[in-house]
Amino acid sequence: MSVFEGKHILLGVTGSIAAYKAADIASKLTQAGAEVDVVLTEHARHFVTEVTFRAITRRPVLTDLFDEPEERQIAHIHLAKRADVLLVAPATANILAKLAAGIADDLLTTLALATHARLVIAPAMNTVMWEHPATQSNVRTLDARGALFVYPAEGMLACGDVGAGKLADTPTILQAVERVLNPPLKGVRVLVTAGPTEEPIDAVRHISNPSSGKMGYAIAEEAVRQGAGVTLVTGPTLLEPPAGAQTVSVRTAQEMLEACLQVYDDVDVVIATAAVSDYRPAEVWHGKRKKGDEEWTIRLVPNPDILRTLGERKGSRILVGFAAETADLLQNAQHKLCEKNLDLIVANDVSQEGSGFRTDTNRVTFLWADGTQTNLPLMSKREVAQRLLEALRERLFQR
Ligand code: PMT
Repeated sequence: MSVFEGKHILLGVTGSIAAYKAADIASKLTQAGAEVDVVLTEHARHFVTEVTFRAITRRPVLTDLFDEPEERQIAHIHLAKRADVLLVAPATANILAKLAAGIADDLLTTLALATHARLVIAPAMNTVMWEHPATQSNVRTLDARGALFVYPAEGMLACGDVGAGKLADTPTILQAVERVLNPPLKGVRVLVTAGPTEEPIDAVRHISNPSSGKMGYAIAEEAVRQGAGVTLVTGPTLLEPPAGAQTVSVRTAQEMLEACLQVYDDVDVVIATAAVSDYRPAEVWHGKRKKGDEEWTIRLVPNPDILRTLGERKGSRILVGFAAETADLLQNAQHKLCEKNLDLIVANDVSQEGSGFRTDTNRVTFLWADGTQTNLPLMSKREVAQRLLEALRERLFQR
């Protein structure tokens, strides 16, 4: 049975020259067994008509917020509640701006605000409009809220320009909808650690490191998107907690260990990206220590190794560590892989430009316990997260 069978899909069509391609999308979805309600914006109606979509879907086509085909129901609330997916294809720069700002001045934008259904967006527009900082900022906002983008392809556009902006092809858009309806990590429970830990010296000073949390948050966000149940245990960062993850905020390594142990029984996969302080001050000064001329020696004692502790009681879980190295990357990573009883270690050379702490990108190597090694080029932390989860998925299914 197709994953689309019996699913209710709202297809929002906006005013792009690519609007005619939405007819093919509606047709394929309907043929696959979905119930498709098409919503045309006023601008879309300059390019396509209701008649086409009504014939394809054999359902009424919706255009007006104040149309109430069934008197007993408020149409947009009813549709919003029933929807499994809200697909906007093609999506113009204008609709992206409205969705990002939460404007609800027509049926489609009102539905978008009123539904819990996952939003899938396939933009189509002129390259300059697509690359405009305002559009890109709206894409980031919607992406951070959990919308799944089917990015436009490059090619010859209707205006004659060549570049990014062409609506993705129908199979690619359908794959994205399928992925939302049947997320690849559904039923998998993932624990992610992220950020630094802070080890207090006195009331105002601490030992820490430059971890921003970006790597771990990207993994947590991506795992949520792929349908996993995610617990994020995070040290102090400036990042927004990922929507859909259970986020536990901690400060010290000891607190991080306790938070991980709290959920460890219930998880299938652990991904430890946190930069845990290996040492903490043996004594914490009460209040703020006053400045003086004399030297101040701080005695440090080792912190618990969280991942090694989890590795000692691993069971059937998959354990993934990250190795932050400045020299002998692979040898050191390999050592940590064995010492902590891991399945995979992700080695990153944090002395390289664009890699490691605080950056939006990372260059990593996957080293598996069975000796398999994959070197990835420099890519965004989001892409690293996607590649990592893809690799883990294969191992999970093998089991
Ligand atoms: O947060 P960002 O700014 O995005 O930066 C990302 C990152 C550089 C922090 C990340 O990519 C990374 O490399 N994380 C691991 C950092 C680290 O502490 O590496 P390590 O080699 O010291 O530790 C190896 C593994 O053991 C790590 O998975 C770590 O979480 C874990 N560990 C380490 C020490 C300790 N006491 N307990 C642990 O669990």
